[in-house]
Amino acid sequence: MTITEDTQHTGDGGWRERFDAMIAADERIEPRDDMPDDYRDTLVRQIAQHAHSEIIGMQPEANWITRAPSLKRKAVLLAKVQDEAGHGLYLYSAAETLGTSRAEMLDLLHEGRQKYSSIFNYPTLTWADVGVIGWLVDGAAITNQVPLCRCSYGPYARAMVRICKEESFHQRQGFEILHVLARGTPAQREMAQDAVNRWYWPSLMMFGPPDAESAHSDTSMAYGIKRFSNDELRQKFVDMIVPQAEALGLTLPDADLVWNERRGHYDFGEIDWSEFKQVLKGNGPCNRQRLERRRAAHADGAWVREAARAHAANRAARTREEATP
Ligand SMILES: [Fe+2]
Ligand SMILES: [Fe+2]
Repeated sequence: MTITEDTQHTGDGGWRERFDAMIAADERIEPRDDMPDDYRDTLVRQIAQHAHSEIIGMQPEANWITRAPSLKRKAVLLAKVQDEAGHGLYLYSAAETLGTSRAEMLDLLHEGRQKYSSIFNYPTLTWADVGVIGWLVDGAAITNQVPLCRCSYGPYARAMVRICKEESFHQRQGFEILHVLARGTPAQREMAQDAVNRWYWPSLMMFGPPDAESAHSDTSMAYGIKRFSNDELRQKFVDMIVPQAEALGLTLPDADLVWNERRGHYDFGEIDWSEFKQVLKGNGPCNRQRLERRRAAHADGAWVREAARAHAANRAARTREEATP
């Protein structure tokens, strides 16, 4: 695509050339730099969606904190869910540098006008689901996010560096849960396999629609936000998880999964995009529950925001008093 002209920044005629040159030279754009509106809009949409996914993603796993099979598992899961809250906060902060407030983004989420990843609209039915979320869902997230550490927008790229380090812990944590279950009793093995069967296809959908149908991909690629296409990332992910599934002794529920010598990649089956579209439209198994929980949590936290505002106002008043001779 061609990067669109933008005429709103009239103060200095040279800003657009500077911006394009920086993108071409693979330099980082910072909040102080002039940028085209479609660059800013694309980033706000993507970072907000990413932040929302981190905090909505806490729900399916939090479902198992009180029922984790041991104190150690409980402590690990608590720490992991807390990491996800932290990811949400870094990302909201990164988006705020583009001029959209966190309160605004949360309102858009609560009104259903900004999205979060559809994967979190599936339920966590057994303890093995916690393992599979770590292995496949955090695994897909890493595949997606490692290239974002080199994204053209500085604050987003820097947030991703720390997030990716934590995500790789999450993935190993999930793999280890499954490793133990897969070598446990026949019932535990079966539970692990059942969870893999339910999450495999939704995890492939996490990379978004096929390249030919992806609405925002072109702009993101042209601006150096996205470095690989949805289909390239999905292939990378499949190539990564096949040997890992073999190491676990678990089967991926895909009859067409086979090594393709010529391509040097695994071939895999056709994704049921009608399911993806249904979940995206709000008709997944947990869409309504997730948003209701999120809205309720936001309402329950109103007193904290109010107290923080009062505290900030008191402090500002005290500072002013101290400053007056
Ligand atoms: Fe995360
Ligand atoms: Fe994670």
